[in-house]
This record gives sequence, C-alpha cells and structure tokens, in this order.
Amino acid sequence: MTLSHIVAAAENDVIGVNNALPWDIPEDMKFFREKTKGKALIMGRKTFESVGHPLPQRLNVVVTRQKDYTFDAPNVVVKPDLKSAIEYCKTQTSKYGEEIFIIGGGEIFKESMGIVDMIYLTRIHKEYPGDIRYPKVDSKNFELVEQRDREEPVAFSFLTYIRKK
Ligand SMILES: NC(=O)c1ccc[n+]([C@@H]2O[C@H](COP(=O)([O-])OP(=O)(O)OC[C@H]3O[C@@H](n4cnc5c(N)ncnc54)[C@H](OP(=O)(O)O)[C@@H]3O)[C@@H](O)[C@H]2O)c1
Repeated sequence: MTLSHIVAAAENDVIGVNNALPWDIPEDMKFFREKTKGKALIMGRKTFESVGHPLPQRLNVVVTRQKDYTFDAPNVVVKPDLKSAIEYCKTQTSKYGEEIFIIGGGEIFKESMGIVDMIYLTRIHKEYPGDIRYPKVDSKNFELVEQRDREEPVAFSFLTYIRKK
C-alpha cells in the first residue's frame, strides 16, 4: 500500500482561498483526473463540499468530526478521523488499487505529512493570496524524483517526491 498526497500549491504554499482553488490550470486538472481515476481518495469535509459532488469513478472517503454527517451515494464513505479513513481504504485495495490518495485540504494534508510515502506536487511558480497553505516539503524526509516544467497558462512544475528510507 502506498499513501500519497496529490496537491497543487503556489510558490508561497497557498492551496486555497475562500474554500476554492485560487487558479484554473486545465492540464493540472487533467493530471489529477488521470492519476486518481479508479482509486480511493481521502478528503476533509470542507474539500468534499467545495468540490460540490462526489468525484466519479473513485471511492470518496470524507473525514469529519460531525457524528451525524451523511452523504447518500454509493461511492461516498464518511469516517470520523484520518486513521479510520486510511484503515477503511486498506480494506478496499482489491477494488481500488494499492495507492491511496489524500487529496486535501490544508488540515488533512498537515495531519498526514508525517505518514505519506509520496507527494505529487504541482508547484505554481507564482504567489497567490489565500487562507490555506500546504506544509513545507522537508528535503530531509523527501527526495525529488521527477520534475516536468510547464509554461501555460502560468509557469508551473509537476514534481514527484518519495519519502527517503
Ligand atoms: N490546491 C489543492 O491541491 C487543494 C486540494 C484540496 C483542497 N484545497 C483547498 O483547501 C481548502 C480546504 O481546506 P481546509 O484545510 O479548509 O479543510 P479540509 O482539510 O478540506 O477539511 C477540514 C475538515 O475536515 C474534517 N477533519 C479534519 N481533520 C479531521 C480529523 N482528524 N478527524 C475528523 N475530521 C477531521 C473537519 O470536518 P468537520 O468540520 O465537518 O468536523 C474539518 O473541518 C479549500 O480552499 C480547497 O479549495 C486545495
């Protein structure tokens, strides 16, 4: 089992503003769709609500402290904490594969930074105003193993990090 973050962050680590994404980068959305298709995804309740609907053809595991939170859809499961969300996803690998994606937001990324094996970070080379940030990727713990640079509609790079052994 591999636990991965998939995230897009500005040069100043901003990932969100007013419960939305600060940018629109179609190639990054395409990357996200292709990478996560058919997989199990874990997300905070605010991210789930900001997307506005369950992501299709994926298992959507929503983490919330609200005991009465429900969402009626076959591919949505609600869990009371991150640990039980991960444990649940581990039971679903025969259907959704061995890689489990944590897709945000800020709170959930922060809580799981110490345990993820991989990070797919789209780094946008510009500063944005925002209220939610991604934690620093510590080079003591993570090695950059791939970088693909892009220029449109703004300069950005697809970065892949793997936790050092
Ligand atoms: N750029 C990106 O790649 C990216 C990706 C995802 C999201 N975002 C952005 O990030 C923002 C949302 O992030 P956020 O930090 O505000 O919220 P979030 O992490 O999406 O969700 C926070 C909520 O998750 C629940 N939660 C968090 N930790 C928990 C735990 N240990 N146990 C149980 N429940 C827990 C709580 O829900 P309850 O309040 O219901 O208890 C909490 O209020 C938005 O702006 C969104 O657009 C950006």
